[in-house]
Amino acid sequence: MSLFLGLAAATGTFPWLFLLLLLQEAIGYSGDSAAPEEVVAALQEPISLPLEIPPDEEVESIVWFSRKRLATVVPGKKGQPASVMVVDPHYEGRVSFLDPSYSLHISNVSWKDSGLYQVQVNLRTSQLSTTQRYNLCVYRRLSQPRVAVNFEIPGEGACNISLLCSVERAGMNVNYSWLALGDSADAVQEGSVLRTSWRPGDKVLPYICKASNPVSSIHSHPILAGAFCADPGYLEMPSVSSCLLAKGLLLLVLLIILAVGLWVTRVKKKSDLPRTRKLKRNRIKLRKKRKPDCSPA
Ligand SMILES: *[C@@H]1O[C@H](CO)[C@@H](O)[C@H](O)[C@H]1NC(C)=O
Ligand SMILES: *[C@@H]1O[C@H](CO)[C@@H](O)[C@H](O)[C@H]1NC(C)=O
Ligand SMILES: *[C@@H]1O[C@H](CO)[C@@H](O)[C@H](O)[C@H]1NC(C)=O
Repeated sequence: MSLFLGLAAATGTFPWLFLLLLLQEAIGYSGDSAAPEEVVAALQEPISLPLEIPPDEEVESIVWFSRKRLATVVPGKKGQPASVMVVDPHYEGRVSFLDPSYSLHISNVSWKDSGLYQVQVNLRTSQLSTTQRYNLCVYRRLSQPRVAVNFEIPGEGACNISLLCSVERAGMNVNYSWLALGDSADAVQEGSVLRTSWRPGDKVLPYICKASNPVSSIHSHPILAGAFCADPGYLEMPSVSSCLLAKGLLLLVLLIILAVGLWVTRVKKKSDLPRTRKLKRNRIKLRKKRKPDCSPA
């Protein structure tokens, strides 16, 4: 410690360190307390900071802090509801304190919620308080990765391909990896860029990009990289054919609607005529009469 202070003083960071120590004292955590518990939350989703209170202790009050005092909870006596006072307006209407432990529950996590939290549990019996610390890390749930394909055909049929995987608004802490689905073994390559080559006669194998962060993990569609080299028009083909397919489907649906419409109007007209009804009934009678002939004697 003294060596550290000496070093700090020598490098001119002593006033800063002193301030930090003072600050820690003021908030109330001792230097030798354990590292804060890391809690991972997804943006705009709920999260709880778990609090464990020894079961046989009587709790006077529970005080939650984030950057400043967040809320005070005073447990009710004998089945009475606890009294909750949310002090920090940033958390108003978004936090609740779950019975019986009074864990902090945030209903809709925002970027601003990330950072250090501390809870101080004041016990009635032992005149002691215990503290627990948390580090809340907020991440956005990833959307499906997109893949950009670059290929070069330098000659002799060989083709160099690079695939770039990306996720929109991904932020930090995203891990990318590529999975090559081979005949025998699937190969995994770390990183967002995959470089590979293809030669005529090679199989066209699918590649899949996986993007993950601490709250999500999501795959791209399989990419047939070799197909771009084998047929440079490949890029346009799927969209054209899918467009034609969509048009065909639309036409089919329209035809079906038209047919159903015609049928409905006909049925309506028919039901207006009593004579045709009679005829139908007769037909049913006929069928009923014939029925016994069909059953084995
Ligand atoms: C969560 O908060 C964001 C703003 O931070 C808001 O746009 C969104 O509607 C909220 N969602 C819910 C379910 O309350
Ligand atoms: C294609 O890739 C090979 C290695 O896989 C490399 O030696 C060659 O220079 C590349 N060609 C081009 C045009 O980038
Ligand atoms: C990324 O991968 C490395 C090694 O597999 C891992 O240590 C790290 O936690 C991962 N990061 C994220 C944000 O998933």
